Amino acid sequence: MQGLSLKPFSWHKLAMDKFDEAKIERIRDNLDKPLVIIGLMGAGKTRIGKQLASTIGLDFYDSDDEIEQAAGMPVSEIFERFGEAYFRDGERRVIERLVDESYDASSHYVIATGGGAIMTQETQELLLSKTHLVWVRADIDVMVERTARRDTRPLLKNGDPREILTTLMNKRYPVYEKADIVVESHNGPVEAVMNQALDKIYNFLRYDNRQTG
Ligand code: S3P
Repeated sequence: MQGLSLKPFSWHKLAMDKFDEAKIERIRDNLDKPLVIIGLMGAGKTRIGKQLASTIGLDFYDSDDEIEQAAGMPVSEIFERFGEAYFRDGERRVIERLVDESYDASSHYVIATGGGAIMTQETQELLLSKTHLVWVRADIDVMVERTARRDTRPLLKNGDPREILTTLMNKRYPVYEKADIVVESHNGPVEAVMNQALDKIYNFLRYDNRQTG
């Protein structure tokens, strides 16, 4: 068949076509701290973080992936063999390293964190002082549906996922509310979520830079 393009799909190309390039450039130029994504399991942190990084032209890291690489085993196995406290300690160290590295890099990173990372006091203090926090928030139905697709999350294995997620919402949302930006994550077109995220980050950075200097 002629004219059929088999090139790999490029988010960056999509971004260039659909998003305001001047706005993206301003975000890139004004970004003075890493962008860290927080939110509950299944809210879409990794997906949105990856797209955001690729759209702005930044490197992306996922703290769970980094922990798995360092430990040489999946998160679920770390929980099973060593317990949650051990995981949280590794998570804190990985996030600290990524944040530090981001300051040494030529441009800042986008870092997606596991849903419970910011509940560790030390991690929370680090994130609040040295990063811009983006809370990716989704409806409970969306999170239940998305987390049901994979059984890799140890915290959802012992009980009804909807009940567990609801308990975590009550406990964690007061902390997530400290975020600089809230992005509503839904199952609609990805461009709509990205436009929302870019607009909010752009406006936040404009205001924040005016305040600080
Ligand atoms: C956790 C969320 C998971 C992972 C671990 C614990 C949590 O990451 O870090 O299973 O405490 O909410 P995601 O939020 O990326 O699923």
